Amino acid sequence: MRTILLGPPGAGKGTQAEVIVKEFQIPHISTGDIFRENIKNGTELGKKAQEYMDKGLLVPDELVVAIVEDRLKKEDCKKGFLLDGFPRTLPQAEALDNVLKDMNVTLNKVINIEVAKEKLIQRAVGRRICRQCATAYHVDFNPPEKEGICDKCGGELYQRADDTEETISKRIEVYLKDTKPLIKYYQDQDILVTIDGEKDIKEVSKAVVQTLGGES
Ligand code: AP5
Ligand code: MG
Ligand code: ZN
Repeated sequence: MRTILLGPPGAGKGTQAEVIVKEFQIPHISTGDIFRENIKNGTELGKKAQEYMDKGLLVPDELVVAIVEDRLKKEDCKKGFLLDGFPRTLPQAEALDNVLKDMNVTLNKVINIEVAKEKLIQRAVGRRICRQCATAYHVDFNPPEKEGICDKCGGELYQRADDTEETISKRIEVYLKDTKPLIKYYQDQDILVTIDGEKDIKEVSKAVVQTLGGES
């Protein structure tokens, strides 16, 4: 299974990615998670990416494309992959098409998760992330069993620096301008499926897995 999760910030890409990778046993490639990991480890890449992320802006295409290209060439991607938050611009989508061509593979489907703007802000502001395993929770919609602690690994939960109302509004603006055009790009390739992301997490998961031909 080779697939992409497309959708605005806070739509539920990361949340649904967990379900998909479990069902299809494929690696989860989230460019946002890769950048946050680099920021945590204080790498050069992390320092560069943080300048953009904190402002709600996109990291430059060259930087992102190089990372994804490297990642897709790793052995574990031979059985497929799930891209979460990449591509986010037309040049990124075109670069991805070229990489896939070199690998002699094509995408199965692109899942577009749709959620209204007011809900996106509410979701992002209440989001809490595990410092160790990056699992996302929500204070109201998906709370952990113990406040501030990850159910899966016992890690500490924190709020992302870019999850303030102001930065999310900026990220949504950037999404509408730079990323939304990808809907048409993949519609033209006949592989886009739009899913209603406003339902409960479990209902959305069911629709996503069914669309991809899975069983749960
Ligand atoms: P990234 O980390 O990818 O952030 P994003 O795309 O803005 O998306 P989010 O992670 O905020 O949302 P999500 O859709 O994953 O939602 P989640 O499942 O967590 O990117 C961050 C930054 O990195 C970018 O701004 C940019 O600077 C840079 N970057 C990354 N990729 C890049 C690229 N390709 N090019 C350039 N720059 C790049 O859910 C959100 C919340 O809602 C959670 O609390 C969750 O519990 C809750 N929730 C989920 N589903 C539901 C539901 N159905 N009902 C109720 N609550 C729900
Ligand atoms: Mg995410
Ligand atoms: Zn954890």
